Amino acid sequence: MDFRVSLVDGLLELKNPVLSASGTFGSGLEYRPYGDIEQLGGIITNGLTLHPCAGAPMPRIAETPGGMLSAVGTQNDGAEHFVNVVLPELPWQEVPVIPNINASNVDEFSDLAALLAAERGVAAMEVNLSCRNDHRGGQRFCQNPVTAARAVNAVKRAAGSKPVIAKLSPQIMDIVEVAKAVEAAGADIISCMGTIEGMAVDVVSSRPMLGSVIGGLSGPAVKPLALRCVWEISRVVQVPVIGVGGVRSARDVLEFMLAGAHAVAVGTANFSDPGTIFRIIRELPALCEELGIDDLNSFRGSLSV
Ligand SMILES: Cc1cc2nc3c(=O)[nH]c(=O)nc-3n(C[C@H](O)[C@H](O)[C@H](O)COP(=O)(O)O)c2cc1C
Repeated sequence: MDFRVSLVDGLLELKNPVLSASGTFGSGLEYRPYGDIEQLGGIITNGLTLHPCAGAPMPRIAETPGGMLSAVGTQNDGAEHFVNVVLPELPWQEVPVIPNINASNVDEFSDLAALLAAERGVAAMEVNLSCRNDHRGGQRFCQNPVTAARAVNAVKRAAGSKPVIAKLSPQIMDIVEVAKAVEAAGADIISCMGTIEGMAVDVVSSRPMLGSVIGGLSGPAVKPLALRCVWEISRVVQVPVIGVGGVRSARDVLEFMLAGAHAVAVGTANFSDPGTIFRIIRELPALCEELGIDDLNSFRGSLSV
């Protein structure tokens, strides 16, 4: 059976529909001891900013029932370091490498996209629309269709021929309106979803579990929310959708595809078992055979309602 997925004809072709989710798989290189990263459908790398970023105060991670809370604050060494040091080490000729880009204003998004667009090793870029549109806080780009569209449009204009993935957050009233706006602004693909804000506290120390107090909830607990978003979005947009949220098995991958996703990204599950993504890719063919699925293209979006 053919597991290849074409997200953008001739520009973003995956050998299978399973990618790593940003922020949970390092640059990809860190996971080499656990499997062959060239077998992935794609590597979406850790969140990247134009300039180096120190990130959020510790602690940055807390376990919760069915998931985890995190507030990393996009700690990274900046775009120049990514391009000069990290990218040359990645097997970008064998597997699409997709940096996840973060910025606090539209010009910064544009500069970062232009820098990455010049790199052969960059297959596409994913715009994290959960970023706040001001260094001191401010609204998230994705909270409003207009600001989301502006960010995507700026990236699209700077990205040249590189496909642009708009990553949406569920933390808004109407995700469908934002999806339509980013598609109209030029997004080639939509990924859904990022984390959703939550918090955890410790009654013994009377302190929050995270240095930033509030963090993003992810893992199996959010899968129903992500599935709902993918289902709603894929029915109204023409562009492919990447489902993200709580995926930890081949069955989860098929659930997202049944709801309309072209591909999925595996996030938090990489922390509980670093071999998860490799296992999912190994198990997918047998599960398809067991369920009598012989063509993922016709299976996609075939949910009977
Ligand atoms: C520790 C951590 C760091 C993350 N960093 C980013 C990031 O930099 N950019 C981004 O778009 N999403 C980031 N995410 C969100 C994930 O890519 C994913 O969208 C989310 O966790 C839901 O998927 P999951 O339940 O499989 O983890 C991060 C998630 C975690 C847990």
